[in-house]
Amino acid sequence: MKNLIKLVSLTLIAAMGFAFAGCGAKSTGMTVEEGVLTMATNAYFPPYEYYDGETIVGIDAEIAAAVAERLGLTLVIEDVEFDSIIGGVQSGKYDIGCAGMTVTEERLQSVNFTTPYATGIQSIIVREGSDITDIDTLIESGCMVAVQSGTTGDIYMTDEVGDERMDRYAKGNDAVIALMQGKVDAVVIDNQPALAFVEANEGLVILDTPYTVEDYAMAINMENTELLDAINQALADLTADGTIAAIIEEYIPTDAE
Ligand code: ARG
Repeated sequence: MKNLIKLVSLTLIAAMGFAFAGCGAKSTGMTVEEGVLTMATNAYFPPYEYYDGETIVGIDAEIAAAVAERLGLTLVIEDVEFDSIIGGVQSGKYDIGCAGMTVTEERLQSVNFTTPYATGIQSIIVREGSDITDIDTLIESGCMVAVQSGTTGDIYMTDEVGDERMDRYAKGNDAVIALMQGKVDAVVIDNQPALAFVEANEGLVILDTPYTVEDYAMAINMENTELLDAINQALADLTADGTIAAIIEEYIPTDAE
């Protein structure tokens, strides 16, 4: 009898624990896999996401981990092609797309975006001593331009120079390698990855473009407003307590600017 009571109370405690976890996490049924926040990214975009050995680190990885923790979920990061992220979020393969992803009108037709947590601008990378000194000389030069496929850089530059002059790569750093090998004369990519690529390689310089500031946010399936609300709340909390600023400062120190 004693044992039975023990068993019953243990079950009760377990059930209560489950109920509490359920309510704290607000997560039951909210994600693709229960208890897990599945994030799709393309991990060649420092300092937002990149490999440190086998591990994907960076601003997005850390912010997503902090969000997951708030929601009582375990973060799992999948490294996929950038232009498959939105489709995967739409089809319910991933919970979030978190990839230094710019909020655009066009993407808003397919997915919802959370509150923005960072910003970026497009930069042009050229070889040192290049005749290309700004967007106008780039357009006039008739040169080939490399971009990461499906990015805002791709969209803007295709608009400026036309399809024939575009060389699209699955990874940002492959575009940079093409530039160093002389296959193309310019790469257009977000400013922070541009800085990281130029720092990591000799003989490259950065030019600014006339394009304005872009907001980075997480993409979420349009039907999953529960997850959208929960993540927005987590992002608000992590902004209020300084966590997001600290993560960004860790990867982009303000005194190094
Ligand atoms: N901000 C740009 C965009 O949304 C580029 C993002 C590329 N991100 C990446 N993880 N490779 O199109």
